[in-house]
Amino acid sequence: MIYDFNPIMDRSNNYSAKHDEAANKFGREDIIPLWIADMDLKTAQPIIDAMIDRANQGMFGYTARPERYFELVKDWQKKKNNWDIDIKYMSHSTGVMPMMCHFMREFLGEGENVIVQPPVYSEFFTAVEDWGGELLYNPLKLIDGDYYIDFDDLEEKAKQGAKYLIICNPHNPVGRVWTKEELTKVGQICLDNGVMVISDEIHSDLMLWENKHIPMASISEEFSKNTVTCISATKTFNLAGLQVSTTVFPNIELKEKYEDVQGRLDSKRNNCFSLVSNMAAYEHGEEWLKQLLKYLEGNIDYIINFCKENIPQIKPNRPDCTYLMWLNCKDLGLDGDDLVDFFINKAKLGLNDGRSFGEGGEGYMRLNVACSRLLLEKAMNQLKEAVISL
Ligand SMILES: Cc1ncc(COP(=O)(O)O)c(C=O)c1O
Repeated sequence: MIYDFNPIMDRSNNYSAKHDEAANKFGREDIIPLWIADMDLKTAQPIIDAMIDRANQGMFGYTARPERYFELVKDWQKKKNNWDIDIKYMSHSTGVMPMMCHFMREFLGEGENVIVQPPVYSEFFTAVEDWGGELLYNPLKLIDGDYYIDFDDLEEKAKQGAKYLIICNPHNPVGRVWTKEELTKVGQICLDNGVMVISDEIHSDLMLWENKHIPMASISEEFSKNTVTCISATKTFNLAGLQVSTTVFPNIELKEKYEDVQGRLDSKRNNCFSLVSNMAAYEHGEEWLKQLLKYLEGNIDYIINFCKENIPQIKPNRPDCTYLMWLNCKDLGLDGDDLVDFFINKAKLGLNDGRSFGEGGEGYMRLNVACSRLLLEKAMNQLKEAVISL
């Protein structure tokens, strides 16, 4: 089946956070929302069909989780990333962030340290701080417009007695796909210093331009015994509202302790649609994903070319993966709140403020390009007009 991603989707009856919460977040109704990381694009038809079939059963009682669900995750990881996971290490969650929060709540003591690598997905910060942990920052290094890990600094932070490192693999918002060499260095530093790695791989299916994702735990047996991996089909297939993710634990003991926490919080089960949608995605979603990635590459090229030709003051990155672009807006000459105000009130666009991703985010905005190209054209023309009137 050929998918047409061009029509501008109507999400007015969709109870969408991106649209329905935009007025509150940005303070006005008339903006184009291009922020939170989901897609204004329709998911794969086999997923929709599976959900309609399930809905037609008309019974939505408590839902069991078949072994088949984990087998499909295993098969997907083997096929995509050549990662052979024993399903006995897998566990279910209602999302990567709920999992991380449950994990921190239970396994992080008051005042214990967690390393994060800003600018990075901001909910990592709250997942640690809300549960009493302290953040140790290992900021990415920016060299000639590309981001790299500062290994010396990482080693220093690891030696300060960090308990965990949360690595965004691949990285949101800078769009880096970490190489095997980089991940090996990170994994080794963590292993040598008793730091367990939490590898958030939620964006890993969205590899652009033939880039290759390396699961941290797949690198060696030693790393797999020191890594908690978070994976999910929800980012890949635009199913975030169905709330499901899979965690691969380094050992049975930790998995059982985690499942005990879920039991005590009575959050073991999930909704019946999350299962059928994810199983259909892993089984029948690949063709849609292939076409989606091509469309996203086109959207990214469009933004890069548009900025080059019309708004050279804004320099977008070319992400290796996913649909989030990191716009360097420093040459607009607007500081802090003025930059945000410009995007909202002059360009009438709702992007994420780069500062929310921590150190290194000042002067940047994050743009979500998982939408119709026609909508992006409208948005970029609004931006161009706003820049002209500066
Ligand atoms: C890096 C990263 N991790 C986790 C999440 C959220 O995952 P979930 O919806 O499964 O909690 C996001 C969402 O944008 C993300 O970018």
